[in-house]
Amino acid sequence: MNVLVTGGMGYIGSHTCIQMIDAGMNPVILDNLYNSKNTVLERIEKVSGVKPTFIEGDVRNKSLVVDVLKAHNIDAVIHFAGLKAVGESVQKPLEYYDNNVNGTLVLVDAMRDCDVKTLVFSSSATVYGDPASVPITEDFPTSATNPYGRSKLMVEECLTDFQKANPDWSITLLRYFNPVGSHPTGELGEDPQGIPNNLMPFVSQVAVGRREFLSVFGHDYPTKDGTGVRDYIHVMDLSDGHVAALQKVGSKQGLHVYNLGTGNGYSVLDMVKAFEAASGKEVPYQLVDRRPGDIAECWADPAKATKELGWQAIRTLEEMTADTWRWQSKNPQGYPES
Ligand code: NAD
Ligand code: UD1
Repeated sequence: MNVLVTGGMGYIGSHTCIQMIDAGMNPVILDNLYNSKNTVLERIEKVSGVKPTFIEGDVRNKSLVVDVLKAHNIDAVIHFAGLKAVGESVQKPLEYYDNNVNGTLVLVDAMRDCDVKTLVFSSSATVYGDPASVPITEDFPTSATNPYGRSKLMVEECLTDFQKANPDWSITLLRYFNPVGSHPTGELGEDPQGIPNNLMPFVSQVAVGRREFLSVFGHDYPTKDGTGVRDYIHVMDLSDGHVAALQKVGSKQGLHVYNLGTGNGYSVLDMVKAFEAASGKEVPYQLVDRRPGDIAECWADPAKATKELGWQAIRTLEEMTADTWRWQSKNPQGYPES
């Protein structure tokens, strides 16, 4: 199976390529390297033994996408490419709608021209907004509170309408909870540019000495220790979820929607403690005000994915933190430039 992986040089895409190779699939990467580095390709090769085809280019370039789909005889597409920083999306909404919404429309238009009718899209638990209760099932109401979240919701709606009008397509929306961790070899991991927005990259940069302390955003939430609770999922489990989606519903016409989460909620302080245990390093922190737009708690009911995809997250919190630390300590400055 030849699979175009847009954004395949990024955090989740690169790990997914490895799991795809392991499952006998042939990933072909299209990425403009806006948020990733060339050297990721060598790491994929080092770990998997295969160097995937890589085309440096933009998913919004329709003629390029058409060329790639034809030249590589593509059977299916996993669409990771996009921008993902919530705060930045408030400052740069146009860039977010252009990359995330327009990018997807151009991609689907090119796929239609080439008769490629299987798409897996990277969505997010952010589409549930502030959920009325937990755990969250796929039929919960959706909403958005920032341009990033709105762009994901818009794409979901566009793809839903498109699939209705084109019932012979297979479109899968995967709603990720909080991806963390890295490849167990420590060769691949999350390499944020600048100050990390997300918890685990920040914690690991504190542990490795790049930052002084963690600010814990909010300690008066109605949770067990007052800090925010999330469903952290190992990136290798998330990657396996994409392989399962392609294998189980990739050839089934219809619109398929799945939560990819573990079903467990951990607080910020749980994560800090687990990280300290895994790394043997102290993670100094300060309790500060809530971050605007944050919710108290959020975790998935992953039963639908288990039942229909035969997939479930199997990696533990200890593996999430130990693997994060292995990547961070082996690569304190992230991927090398070249
Ligand atoms: P990432 O930034 O590491 O990877 C995205 C990749 O897409 C990067 O390599 C970037 O260079 C590339 N890219 C961006 N715009 C492009 C364009 N126009 N054309 C071609 N390539 C382009 O992000 P990630 O964490 O791997 O996330 C992948 C996807 O999953 C994104 O769509 C993101 O919104 C979604 N998602 C991520 C998370 C998370 O916490 N990481 C959670 C939910 C959903
Ligand atoms: C964030 C995004 C969400 C996106 C998700 C992907 C926001 C508001 N939401 O969710 O749209 O889909 O990432 O994983 O950015 N925390 C700290 N200190 C920090 C960083 C985070 O205490 O320096 C806390 C947060 O308050 C939260 C938890 O850690 O309780 C997780 O935060 P984060 O990793 O940013 O993820 P989300 O907020 O769940």
